[in-house]
Formats: sequence, C-alpha cells, structure tokens
Amino acid sequence: MGWNSWNKFQCDVSEGLIRQTADALVSTGLRDAGYIYLNIDDCWHGKRDAQGLIQPDPKRFPNGLKAVADYVHSKNLKLGIYSDAGTLTCGKRPGSHGFEEKDARQYASWGVDYLKYDWCSTEGLKAEEAYTTMRNALQKTGRPIVFSICEWGTSQPWTWAAPVGNLWRTTGDIGLCWEKKACKHEWEMGWMNILDLQVGLDTYAGPGHWNDPDMLQVGNGLSEVEDRAHFSLWALLAAPLLAGNDLRNMSQATKETLTNRDVIAVDQDPLGIEGSKVRDDGAKEIWAKPLKGGAKAVILLNRGEAPVRIKVTWAELGWSAPTTVVRDLWRKQDMGSFRDGTFAEVAPHGVVMLRLSPAPVPAVGR
Ligand code: GAL
Repeated sequence: MGWNSWNKFQCDVSEGLIRQTADALVSTGLRDAGYIYLNIDDCWHGKRDAQGLIQPDPKRFPNGLKAVADYVHSKNLKLGIYSDAGTLTCGKRPGSHGFEEKDARQYASWGVDYLKYDWCSTEGLKAEEAYTTMRNALQKTGRPIVFSICEWGTSQPWTWAAPVGNLWRTTGDIGLCWEKKACKHEWEMGWMNILDLQVGLDTYAGPGHWNDPDMLQVGNGLSEVEDRAHFSLWALLAAPLLAGNDLRNMSQATKETLTNRDVIAVDQDPLGIEGSKVRDDGAKEIWAKPLKGGAKAVILLNRGEAPVRIKVTWAELGWSAPTTVVRDLWRKQDMGSFRDGTFAEVAPHGVVMLRLSPAPVPAVGR
C-alpha cells in the first residue's frame, strides 16, 4: 500500500510535492492505515554523469534523491522510484537498458525501497529476460527493493513473473473513467474494463507475487459511489492499493474511502487469496474472497444505470455455515444473522460490500 504520483501529477513531480505528500500521508492518517510506500513515477530523471550514473533532474530535485529518501524515511515511510527496461522511459527520460547494475546501485545508495519498471522503447527485448536482468541487479545491491513489473500484461506476466517481481501490471493504463468510451485518452481503460480482464487471473497471485490492476483513481473525479466501488473491488482482488490523488487536498469522503479499515483488511488479509467473480447476470455481479478464520468478503456490484436489488445465496458462495453473521463494510454495521442468504439495494455503478462470518456456536449451559 502506498501512493504514486502518476495518476494525478503525471510528469509534474518535484522535491516539494514529495515532501508535502510525505507530510500528508502522516497528517491524514493514511500512513497509519497502511499506506507506506511513497512512489515517484516517471520524469524525475535528469542526465547520466560521465560515469554513466543517473542523476535526478536538478530543477525538480535540487537536493538530490538521497535527501528526499532521508526525509521520507524520517516519517517512517518508504521511497519508490520509476525506470524503464528500454532505452527511454514512456516520458522520454533515460531508461535503464544497458545500465541495469549502475542504476540499481544508484537507487540503493539513495535508499530507494521500491522500483516500478516500465516497458517503453524496448523494441527487440524479451520481457522475461529484461525484467530478470533488473531483478538480478537489484538483488546484487543487497538492499531489499520491491520490484514492480509494468509491461501492461502484454506477455502474460502472471505466467512467468512470480519468481521475478513482487507485482505485475495485468493491463494497460487506468483512466479517470468507468468505461473506455468515457476515458480521455485512447490508450486508457476504464476501471470496469480492467476489472473484466482480471477474471481467471486470481490463481496466479499470492503472498509476495501479486496481480496489479493499476493504481487507484479514488479522489480524482469519479463519483463517490464509483470511488467506493473501485476501492472495494481492488481490495477484493488483493490488489496493491496505491492511492493516486492529491493527498494535500482531499475531501473528507475521499479520505474515508481510502481509510476504511474493514475494506483494507479484506485487501491485506493474511491468506493473500485474490477474490474472483462468482456470478454475472449482466448488470448484476457477485464477487467473493475467502478470508482468514473461515470468513468471506462479498461484493454485490451494480454495473447498470438504475438501482437494483441483488440477492446472494450462501449456497452459490459455497458457504456452509448454518448461521452467518453479516457485516456491511461501508455502512460499518453488523446487519444480523442470516440463514440461507441475503440481499441489498445497490446504487447504479455502486457496490454493497459484506463480510460473512460463521455465527459463534452458543455455549451449552448447565
Ligand atoms: C505507463 C505506465 C503508467 C505510468 C506511465 C509513465 O507506461 O503504465 O503507469 O508509469 O507509463 O510515463
């Protein structure tokens, strides 16, 4: 869990933004809710020096990245950075191709804890090989650095990346949109399109090697109902939760969405099982995720344009507890005990997210 600069700021990154975001992670309570990684995406780069060592852009990061890392660490946060397996990053900054060991050593010397590694300008390269080269370079530094593979799902990284990286993007870029036709740029995907592409990938993910359906758009301009739905589904997918909004300036509703502890607990559940789609009736969908202690998270999703009632039976979830305690994770209320199933009214583009647990067996008195 953490934050990344791209969705909101694109290339407009600077030492000021990163320091202020570090402060905001602390003051808003996001750090204490689990958002630990502060990740600088594309465009922090300046030139390579005479020894081939990459330097940050001197205008954007006048004190260098070691100073930024020290500040981030002083707040009990971790610093992430971005590079690319090709000759140039997607923002046309220097890529790491041919400089993998030098770059990895440089990042480690600054105190970097996380590397997102992109796939622009990689003509003629093979993804598995190129990512393995950087994996080895990172390992050689001796510093633990989370390795985030970002080749947009092109070479089906779920089939090869578990020993190579800690997370891998499964799709192209998330836009600020529900569906592709509402996205601003032609290369972007709506979060519904991304959700659909996760079907069938759940078995590839697990602790230490996760599917990454891209960073969150919560707080960037979707409706509050969609923000909650997007956040709920990413939690159910056990996805990396990387906030992508301006934390210095967010509404109470955005903060409440990003810090809902019950929903975060579903994402971070120690079993690390990715949830999956249980039923698809067109506009009505049901998703579920097994949780530690025999519990289950369930999402009732309304993809349609009118409110609907969605029913779920325990049988279709493969749930056999005779009596089930149901908690509504957005109303933050226990709804009582139910025998065979339950139902809820779900707003258009919204979800109802439930946590099911077996009712405690009553103690037998004398
Ligand atoms: C894309 C990547 C985005 C962002 C961007 C930066 O390839 O998918 O998440 O990192 O490059 O230029």
